[in-house]
Amino acid sequence: MEHTKHLWRAILILLVVSIGYLLGRGFLVPESFGKYGHYRGDNLQEQMNIRVPKHGNGMESCGFCHEEKVETIVETPHRVINCETCHATLRSHVEYESIEKFLEDPDSYDKTAEMEIHSAQELCIKCHDYQLAKPDDYKTIVVVEHLEERDMELGPYVCFECHDPHDPEM
Ligand code: HEC
Ligand code: HEC
Ligand code: HEC
Ligand code: HEC
Repeated sequence: MEHTKHLWRAILILLVVSIGYLLGRGFLVPESFGKYGHYRGDNLQEQMNIRVPKHGNGMESCGFCHEEKVETIVETPHRVINCETCHATLRSHVEYESIEKFLEDPDSYDKTAEMEIHSAQELCIKCHDYQLAKPDDYKTIVVVEHLEERDMELGPYVCFECHDPHDPEM
């Protein structure tokens, strides 16, 4: 019997380690681990909750503070463009927890950061430069010709020299 003692000792250690592993795993591995893949399933929802919606509610949410701008633009061909298309997301300008809360009480909010204003190249030309694929009744120009005819040179803000982006028709 004496010569098998070391064997029993090894088996005992193995048992303790195995049980320890199983108990420890039960405590330490989160419940949703492996629900979708080799990660904690609940993490998906947690990540989604961190991301606050950044867009406003169309022109309406700008109108609470820029009423005149909205009133101007709705009378022009640019009424079809959302303010955020030419500027940036509402939340980069006015911080809020959720768009629903903002809309409940817009008067309690104020500007928190500069709103972006892009260059003409990024805005006007992207939409108005002539392309064969654009519909016939969509007003396009050949930028170089349009400027040459008027003795102007292409520059980052050249279109704004003549056109008001909020009331572009001449
Ligand atoms: C076609 C693109 C375009 C659209 C659409 C647009 N903007 Fe602008 N906006 C500009 C550009 C370019 C400037 C800077 C040039 C200037 O001051 O005229 C500007 C400037 C501004 C300014 C600051 C200067 C000023 O004129 O008071 C405000 C405020 C503003 N926009 C608000 C709005 C709001 C609100 C809307 C939606 C109702 C809107 N914009 C829609 C392009 C646009
Ligand atoms: C809670 C109020 C509020 C809302 C909502 C708001 N703005 Fe403003 N915005 C301001 C204030 C205040 C200023 C600075 C004074 C001014 O120009 O009227 C400003 C200025 C601006 C400017 C000039 C650049 C700057 O940052 O000073 C632009 C462009 C602008 N806003 C666009 C927008 C657009 C587009 C929206 C909608 C997506 C919007 N704003 C929504 C309050 C607001
Ligand atoms: C997101 C696309 C878009 C952007 C950006 C944009 N426009 Fe427009 N623009 C339009 C649409 C759409 C119309 C209406 C076209 C129509 O009815 O045929 C229009 C109409 C116009 C018109 C009136 C044409 C007419 O005589 O009826 C002019 C001028 C104009 N835009 C100039 C500009 C200028 C200058 C800029 C830059 C500040 C600009 N646009 C930015 C889409 C855009
Ligand atoms: C020197 C002044 C001036 C500058 C700068 C200018 N435009 Fe114009 N644009 C006009 C005038 C004036 C008209 C109307 C007469 C016409 O159709 O030729 C016009 C007409 C337009 C039209 C309507 C074309 C149509 O078929 O009815 C668009 C779109 C336009 N411009 C876009 C732009 C863009 C984009 C820029 C910047 C690259 C720009 N314009 C720069 C003066 C200017």
